[in-house]
Amino acid sequence: MDFALDVVRFIHYAAALQLFGVCVFQSLMAPAELRRHLHASSRALAVPSAWLLLLSAISWLALMAGTMGEGWADAVDPAVMLLMLHATAFGNVWIGQLLIAFLLVLVLSSRRGGKWLWPSLLASLALGSLGLIGHATIGVGVMGIVNRTSQVLHLLASGFWIGSLVPLLFCLRAMHNSEHAAAAQAALQRFSGLGHFAVAIVIATGLANGWLLLRDTGIDLTSLYQELLLTKVSIVGIMIVLAIVNRYVFMPAIANGGPGLNQLRLGTIAEIVLSGGVIGLVSILGALSPS
Ligand code: HEM
Repeated sequence: MDFALDVVRFIHYAAALQLFGVCVFQSLMAPAELRRHLHASSRALAVPSAWLLLLSAISWLALMAGTMGEGWADAVDPAVMLLMLHATAFGNVWIGQLLIAFLLVLVLSSRRGGKWLWPSLLASLALGSLGLIGHATIGVGVMGIVNRTSQVLHLLASGFWIGSLVPLLFCLRAMHNSEHAAAAQAALQRFSGLGHFAVAIVIATGLANGWLLLRDTGIDLTSLYQELLLTKVSIVGIMIVLAIVNRYVFMPAIANGGPGLNQLRLGTIAEIVLSGGVIGLVSILGALSPS
């Protein structure tokens, strides 16, 4: 059941990060004409992500019921799941998660055209509230509030960064279309401008999370938790180098009319693959004891 829970956590985090990224890219980064041009491909990414968010939220609840109860029999028992929802701290957050995921499926599946503001608000609530469960519940009083605030900011900033990468590929494809090249270039500039802040917030809150969770145990690289965390941070380090090369080598080349679009596309795909590894690690990390 632990492995099943890790897989479900991976799907849920990936869906929440991707949904937040595509909604924010459409509502904040893309100029109006590009937003219309990318609407269909963005919806084709957002709707399945919303369904994965809802189905993995239900599965996560079932697996938690099984883990806290008597195994698989309780994992499929609606009474135990209902008990989990109203009798545990996780359950209180999860009532909101299930409701928001359902609303996201409804809103994104029902609208063909229309704005991305409401999906963006719902997606930020879905992603942000994941910063209120698991190790984020460690700590009472001020330290508890600091821990949860840091985890929420960490999730939203990392969602902005890695959730925007696939929409960025849509944007790079639009640069081949003379009608949309200027708007795509503007969206690229906006993303890379705000991207600097997002990466800085991810690193700052990541360090804060690490300190808050490990300040009593100290550094012990024989612990599986710390080994996985160090691996995660190392992969993010490679992603940051890639992002710097994308921003300061390939983008200027494009702006000067030189080659760079294909390199930027490959650099972005490499970041997407690496971020999959990061989400995989956090899916395991969150279920391990930090101490
Ligand atoms: C692309 C970059 C990153 C992504 C997508 C990411 C994603 C996440 C996610 C989804 C969580 C929540 C896990 C949970 O609650 O179980 C998390 C927690 C955490 N992250 Fe990151 N993170 C990134 C970068 C970093 C960096 C650079 C650091 C350190 C400098 C870091 C350190 C942490 C720590 C210590 C936690 C708490 C883990 C726990 O709850 O046990 N993260 N991260």
